[in-house]
Amino acid sequence: MDKLVIAGGKPLEGSVPISGAKNSALAILAGSLLSTGECLISNVPNLLDVQVICEVLASLGVRLMATPDGMVRVDASTLREHTTPYHLVTRMRASFFVLGPILARLGQARIPLPGGCAIGSRPVDLHLKGLRSLGARVNIGHGFVEAFADKLVGGNVYLDYPSVGATETIMMAATLAEGRTVIENCAQEPEIADLADFLIKMGASIRGAGTETITIEGTTSLHRCDHRVIPDRIEAGTFMVAAAITKGKLRLQNVRLDHLQAVIAKLVECGMEIVPEGQDLLVSAPNTLKSIDLRTLPFPGFPTDLQAPLMTLLATINGTSVVAETVFENRFLHVDELLRMGANIKTEGNCAIIQGVPVLTGAPVQATDLRAGAAMVLAGLAAKGETVVSDIHHIDRGYERLEEKLTNVGASIKRIPTTDSVLV
Ligand code: UD1
Repeated sequence: MDKLVIAGGKPLEGSVPISGAKNSALAILAGSLLSTGECLISNVPNLLDVQVICEVLASLGVRLMATPDGMVRVDASTLREHTTPYHLVTRMRASFFVLGPILARLGQARIPLPGGCAIGSRPVDLHLKGLRSLGARVNIGHGFVEAFADKLVGGNVYLDYPSVGATETIMMAATLAEGRTVIENCAQEPEIADLADFLIKMGASIRGAGTETITIEGTTSLHRCDHRVIPDRIEAGTFMVAAAITKGKLRLQNVRLDHLQAVIAKLVECGMEIVPEGQDLLVSAPNTLKSIDLRTLPFPGFPTDLQAPLMTLLATINGTSVVAETVFENRFLHVDELLRMGANIKTEGNCAIIQGVPVLTGAPVQATDLRAGAAMVLAGLAAKGETVVSDIHHIDRGYERLEEKLTNVGASIKRIPTTDSVLV
């Protein structure tokens, strides 16, 4: 597997274009199954996860065409299969998000259960509870979820936890249900509002996406539309931390300020200077930063996807910081890797106590999951000496052209392909 080799200690300076949001693109591509017309989706990042969802759609009989400029054309009028292959769902959990649209279009769906993943058990009970509230019969057996409904009927759904995926599954299924669906305590992430905007352009009637109550009036069919995916707030946050940890100065191009309030607030609390300029964000680091405490929460709280990157920054800031992870049960896999680089971090349950060290030291480390992988790259950028990050297929799942973007702003980072490392 490819590795990233980073020579640390170089302050980053320059401009970074922010790509389209991975999590929006995945949900929107799943949502395109609801339409019988052709959808033209732009600003789609070229990522492993996006390739997997495209493979899922193709396996269902959907016609797709992608262009190198991030445009994906989807024609789901040919949707005929109601089951997705096991090997695709195990490659990416978000493949499960096709359940609601397939059920709504074809009256039945058979999708492998996604199972656990590195950061926790990640059940799908809320997705299924929602579909049952819309009148679906849902059975689990032999590792598959099977759902049937001759006709979905609108209903009231209260989510016990504001799950992003469950909100998306139910919202998508409800667009083609008969009558009104009300989802309460739903997720308010910007990706939910982006998915709703896309569905509304296809003719769906949705109110309240981005708030804690979403109301959907079902319709009989959805038509073609054009949609541009929102910028990736997690990629933007990762580069904000890159500026902070290297004592650099970056201009992040094409961001949505309203999606980044909690991240900006915590970095400003650390002492970072962050100034919006049109669609851009100017991020610069002073000589010294302050330790802070942090708690991850559903949006508009601080995103769990930036917990590992921010903890890496805190590991380099003098003083004691406390990080509480409240969204996923096992999202501290990066801690052991940071310890290998000289960090001083203790974990207790869902809390990590970080004692900042003056310097991290380069080491061979592993990307244990997507965001933990980003954290290793950040640590490598700040560390003294060379860091070699392995298992970077996790990073390729969610960061478009990461080495190129970092190299353009002065980082020394190189990908060593598998074949090279065998020959060396
Ligand atoms: C999405 C994002 C992921 C992000 C997460 C939380 C995508 C493709 N992924 O994942 O990057 O980290 O939101 O912001 O959009 N839960 C249940 N039952 C369910 C569903 C979820 O108990 O049926 C729990 C999970 O175990 C977890 C919490 O709810 O502890 C949050 O999960 P959820 O919001 O569903 O995350 P995803 O949609 O999988």
